[in-house]
Amino acid sequence: MKIVLWIVGAVVVVVGGAFAFLVLKKPAMSAPSPVKVEITAERLQRGKYIFETLGSCEDCHSQRDPARFSGPIVPGTSGRGFEWPAELGLPGKVVSPNITPDAETGIGSWTDGEILRAIREGVSKDGRALFPFMPYQQFRSMSDEDAYSVVAYMRRMQPIKSKMSVTELDFPVKYMVKFAPEPVSGAVAAPAKGKTAEYGKYVATVGGCVICHTKMDKGTPIEGMEYAGGEEFTIGSWFVRSANISPDAETGIGKWSEDKFVAKFKGYANLTFESAPRSVQANFTVMPWMAFSQIAEDDLRAIYAYLRTVKEVRHSVEVHPPVAPPRS
Ligand code: HEC
Ligand code: HEC
Repeated sequence: MKIVLWIVGAVVVVVGGAFAFLVLKKPAMSAPSPVKVEITAERLQRGKYIFETLGSCEDCHSQRDPARFSGPIVPGTSGRGFEWPAELGLPGKVVSPNITPDAETGIGSWTDGEILRAIREGVSKDGRALFPFMPYQQFRSMSDEDAYSVVAYMRRMQPIKSKMSVTELDFPVKYMVKFAPEPVSGAVAAPAKGKTAEYGKYVATVGGCVICHTKMDKGTPIEGMEYAGGEEFTIGSWFVRSANISPDAETGIGKWSEDKFVAKFKGYANLTFESAPRSVQANFTVMPWMAFSQIAEDDLRAIYAYLRTVKEVRHSVEVHPPVAPPRS
């Protein structure tokens, strides 16, 4: 009897200790860099491109209208924040904060180093670990120059007063998330610009293509399925699966020419918030076509070159099933 109690006691102490460890654990973090980002015309232009187009910052941090094709952002809401709908199946309430330079409700009072740390290392101003739905694990590859450009642009954005609530993750994710942040050590450079697979990999990484185009199992990408599609997205009564964009000839984009790939994106270039068709199940998508149609043509050609080099995966995906399958 005594021994049983002792064992129970030991288990309680160990589990309790591990729990206290998780509650008290601080994410891996470095002090924010003391850098003061110089604002230049080149950086404003480059930063706007990453913010509005390539990095999808605007797509995730603004009000969006899922009832219009590809969920365009509502004009005048750039950076004001967004609370993600529960149907997406995220583990808790996930809120993209207001990242406009409003001092009270946005990031106006943050230092450049604090903004850089949030973007590439996943730690908020107050030391909180950010849920990696904010793709900082991709953005850690963003070059110093590109990251400075984003910060420069964010400083000059229209400030919007918009008080957002704070992300509240479910147990156990709220503790596990503390293991996600990782400091960036040393200088980060981008490969030389060009229509090469190497530069394409950089562009695709900042573009977050792999995140949506890889099927997940309970929030973790399934190994070996990178770019093979099949990840499911539900918003309201709409449902879509990401396409297989690996170079498999039958089920991926192996038969697409480079020009066809570019034309697919550029085909959406003239859509506006007003002219976007209504979403119906047959066209519903979370692929930010309107934003991505503005990706520079050479960057698209580089992405294409990179996608030719990733592993071919035979994986047939019904992107737009006529009705959403039952939730598993
Ligand atoms: C897929 C959606 C998504 C994309 C793309 C995205 N973010 Fe975020 N971001 C979020 C979410 C969600 C959070 C909050 C996470 C949390 O609260 O744990 C966040 C947090 C942040 C924060 C911290 C704000 C705070 O108050 O703690 C900053 C700064 C930020 N993002 C900037 C950016 C920039 C700049 C880009 C583009 C380079 C970007 N984000 C792209 C979803 C996104
Ligand atoms: C937010 C999620 C998301 C992101 C990020 C994303 N995609 Fe997609 N993508 C989808 C979904 C869902 C579809 C299928 C529906 C459609 O065609 O719109 C799709 C479709 C496509 C298609 C069409 C394939 C076909 O067979 O018609 C291509 C090409 C593509 N994506 C390339 C990319 C590239 C390149 C990137 C990165 C720059 C990217 N996607 C980022 C979700 C995403």
